[in-house]
Amino acid sequence: MIIHKIEPQGYCGGVTHAIKMAMDAAKNDSISKPIYMLGQIIHNSHVISDLEKLGIITIEEKGLSRLLLLDKINKGTVIFSAHGVSPLVYKKAKEKGLSIIDATCPYVLLVHNKIKEHLDLGYACIYIGTKNHPECEGVIGISDKIHFVSTIEDIKSLNIKNDKVYATNQTTLSIFETKIIFDEIKRIYPNSIIDDKICNATTVRQMAMENQPDADLCIVVGDKKSSNTKKLYSVSIERGIKTILIEDLKSLPKESLIGVKKINISSGASTPSYIVDEIIDYLKSLEN
Ligand code: F3S
Repeated sequence: MIIHKIEPQGYCGGVTHAIKMAMDAAKNDSISKPIYMLGQIIHNSHVISDLEKLGIITIEEKGLSRLLLLDKINKGTVIFSAHGVSPLVYKKAKEKGLSIIDATCPYVLLVHNKIKEHLDLGYACIYIGTKNHPECEGVIGISDKIHFVSTIEDIKSLNIKNDKVYATNQTTLSIFETKIIFDEIKRIYPNSIIDDKICNATTVRQMAMENQPDADLCIVVGDKKSSNTKKLYSVSIERGIKTILIEDLKSLPKESLIGVKKINISSGASTPSYIVDEIIDYLKSLEN
């Protein structure tokens, strides 16, 4: 069996930064306890469980926004996830007297700042993102004037009268799908400013997936909630290679390996390296 590890892999800068902030907080006696994560700090269940072992409590409930989740925290410290939060969440946490650790990825913060700047300058702002994703929730919460879109159809149904249009996006979208949506925005609003904010970590991983060698199977390792991981999966499918997305070795369907001679393996920017190494070691053990 030929196993090809698609590079780059490992944590992106934003994930490394967020995990370090949480770990440092857990070990710091002077930080007000208990320490809560408002939603998962990054989307990987293994990382979350490691942080919970250090005493950090995850606050999440399907369907509840970050703003409503805050109602469940009344003292101590709250960590905002790498996906960022809206100004309203910040304000509410302060009003509740909570200590705040903001682990927002700098690339996400840049999007917040760019949108605020363009709203202040009188632009109509279009933001491309995934419905119900926490990063989008944080951005949309900046202002009810933001036009949130996910598809080409959404763009077509906008009817912006402002001559000044600024368009930007969630940081972990597909570079290929997003280009098509931006092209449509440019077609309808020729003078619009297109500001693609897909982060570098997402871009280089997707390019590597697009350029992966032919294989019988591609394994993408990561959490099913992770946006950048799911996009690696879809880029690989579009590339025409049979692809599976698994969280770890336990979830690898052994029947998917039947007759497979060449395997490519990739992982999301929030997947710990040891999870990928365990899978590679297992695949190598099959050769013996
Ligand atoms: Fe940030 Fe991109 Fe990672 S937005 S958290 S650097 S995947």
